[in-house]
Amino acid sequence: MIPEKVLPITNGFLRPLRLEDLHQDYIDGLNNPAVNRYLEVRRVKQTVESVRSFIKHNIDSSDGVLWGIWKNSSRHHVGTVRIHGINENLRYGDIGICIFCQSAWGQGTGSDAIKAATQWAFAELKLYSIEAHAYLDNAASIRTFLKSGYTRLQDRVKNVSGESGLIRHAFLRAESENILEN
Ligand SMILES: CC(C)(COP(=O)(O)OP(=O)(O)OC[C@H]1O[C@@H](n2cnc3c(N)ncnc32)[C@H](O)[C@@H]1OP(=O)(O)O)[C@@H](O)C(=O)NCCC(=O)NCCS
Repeated sequence: MIPEKVLPITNGFLRPLRLEDLHQDYIDGLNNPAVNRYLEVRRVKQTVESVRSFIKHNIDSSDGVLWGIWKNSSRHHVGTVRIHGINENLRYGDIGICIFCQSAWGQGTGSDAIKAATQWAFAELKLYSIEAHAYLDNAASIRTFLKSGYTRLQDRVKNVSGESGLIRHAFLRAESENILEN
């Protein structure tokens, strides 16, 4: 899904990521252990081909949007926020975020992007709720979702087959305020 839309944030904007937006800093950021520590991409070294394929998958997807995040001071975009797993019947979806440019951390970029994408999904897609998952020790992520209007519903500990050890994560949710009006 690639809506023709630009969403303003403080000193920047979001717009759907296109294939021509791919750049080396994006790939390097996804391979940076400080960035990918809590992300699934850490499992496989990212390349031009793998990131291109991810962007294309999202463009072609009917149930997700991959927004690129740009700051005015940056030549390239600094991160992505993705609404995915959209269920049009039950009107819920999931959200994930990655500011791969570490120098953009701690300036409100992550929370601005989460708020903008969440508000867009409530207003345009008429979703009722959006859910986020964060590893329990990813305190920055949990704090960022809480700052963005998400509520921490519960912490979960799961023993996933095929994985060694337990997966501990926090489950957060944002609810559309006008749920009864739609
Ligand atoms: C998590 C992430 C999106 C936050 O982006 P950001 O642009 O730094 O977010 P913001 O500046 O809006 O807010 C960060 C908040 O986390 C807080 N924070 C940062 N590190 C923290 C830590 N170790 N413990 C607790 N809070 C922390 C900041 O103080 C700030 O809160 P405050 O404004 O109340 O002080 C970014 O660090 C990132 O992309 N990390 C790598 C990928 C990732 O983990 N994604 C989330 C997967 S669920």
